[in-house]
Amino acid sequence: MGAETRNLSLRLSLCPYWHGWDPTAGEPQSPLIAEDCGLHRRYLRWRRVRIARPDRDSLNSMNERPHKEQFRFPRWTNTIRPHLGLGLTVAPLYLIALIYYAFNPTTTMSGYQPPQPVEYSHTLHAGELGIDCRYCHFTVENAATAAIPPTEVCMNCHASILTESTKLLPVRESHNSGMPIKWVRVHDLPDFVYFNHSAHVTRGIGCESCHGRIDHMDQVAQEQRLSMRWCLDCHREPENHLRPVDVVTTMGYAPAEDQIALGSRLRLENQINPSLDCSTCHR
Ligand code: HEC
Ligand code: HEC
Ligand code: HEC
Ligand code: HEC
Ligand code: HEC
Repeated sequence: MGAETRNLSLRLSLCPYWHGWDPTAGEPQSPLIAEDCGLHRRYLRWRRVRIARPDRDSLNSMNERPHKEQFRFPRWTNTIRPHLGLGLTVAPLYLIALIYYAFNPTTTMSGYQPPQPVEYSHTLHAGELGIDCRYCHFTVENAATAAIPPTEVCMNCHASILTESTKLLPVRESHNSGMPIKWVRVHDLPDFVYFNHSAHVTRGIGCESCHGRIDHMDQVAQEQRLSMRWCLDCHREPENHLRPVDVVTTMGYAPAEDQIALGSRLRLENQINPSLDCSTCHR
């Protein structure tokens, strides 16, 4: 294949109206193709493809074409016609529903905020009382998962604080029966994704970067979409989020200097290079 021919067939295949007609071989042979190739012709003109001149013989044979050679839709296609109108009304509704569904928080899961069995508030405990995240989520630095505190952690205080509170009744019941409180999971990646808290927290990614201002949440809501893109955006440019390791649990952390300058320096000093390999997160 010569370079020019290859170039041409490439340009032809790029034409959205192409039905298999090769203009360098002369005029189209079927009237159907001829018709929609009006569009194709315009496209070719725009693309500056030269159409070969038809010779007299092939022109004559086109005029003499017997009628029965014309393409006709089979009879059964007539039964589709009444449904066509229905399709045209349903299609936009379907599209709207699809878009609505795609952006709905229960689909994207950001903003997901299930009710919990106890009115436990992070605003009160992590915010006003200033209890460090690691007091309750004590595995977060050493393990893949951040532990949800067992009832005993609550009882460290609530054995003596607000012992009569009705809001704390489920906590006392759990303590007496030994049955754990049935907290409802908020963040939940699909099973085919591997995530690891300690790999992030010990390298200088704060809880806030992924969970938002937990200390402003009376009831925990999921702030980020936890999509693959979200993970990858930060794995490509972690300097947008890196902070000194001793402030990973600080809420509302604002660096004294420019975040990018700080992040870039920390990245270099600690050789932080998050992997983009599929196998890092899909094992
Ligand atoms: C006094 C204990 C305590 C402290 C302190 C605490 N948490 Fe929690 N945390 C809990 C409990 C209990 C739950 C489960 C109930 C809920 O989701 O509200 C929870 C849930 C969460 C969840 C949602 C887990 C899920 O199901 O997806 C996140 C995220 C979280 N905490 C982050 C933090 C951060 C960040 C801090 C520090 C700023 C913090 N927590 C401080 C007790 C605590
Ligand atoms: C370090 C101590 C401490 C720990 C640990 C702790 N709390 Fe509290 N909690 C408090 C204090 C102090 C208050 C009350 C503040 C006030 O209203 O004076 C409180 C208030 C509450 C209230 C509100 C009760 C009411 O009647 O208003 C609930 C519910 C609660 N805590 C649940 C929990 C749960 C669940 C845990 C375990 C995950 C927990 N707390 C762990 C100190 C603690
Ligand atoms: C790099 C982002 C990121 C950082 C930083 C991060 N988390 Fe998470 N966290 C997640 C993701 C993603 C999940 C859901 C994990 C899953 O479904 O397997 C999660 C889940 C949780 C849970 C629910 C239990 C679990 O492990 O699934 C708790 C509690 C939690 N995080 C607390 C914290 C605390 C506290 C910190 C800071 C010390 C923190 N996280 C830092 C992304 C992060
Ligand atoms: C805000 C930034 C940030 C986000 C968001 C983030 N990561 Fe990371 N991730 C990092 C950094 C920084 C490291 C540590 C790289 C290093 O140690 O060189 C890391 C490391 C990891 C590691 C450990 C790799 C190893 O070598 O063991 C895994 C696994 C991982 N991330 C998975 C995820 C997944 C899954 C998500 C999304 C649910 C995610 N990360 C979101 C910044 C992020
Ligand atoms: C930093 C972590 C991370 C890396 C690296 C990563 N993924 Fe993912 N991937 C995710 C997360 C998180 C999800 C789940 C997204 C969701 O639930 O919306 C996901 C979902 C997927 C899905 C399912 C998509 C869907 O719509 O259900 C496929 C396929 C996939 N990843 C392929 C890959 C391939 C191929 C690579 C390598 C080029 C890769 N991933 C690298 C985190 C990662």
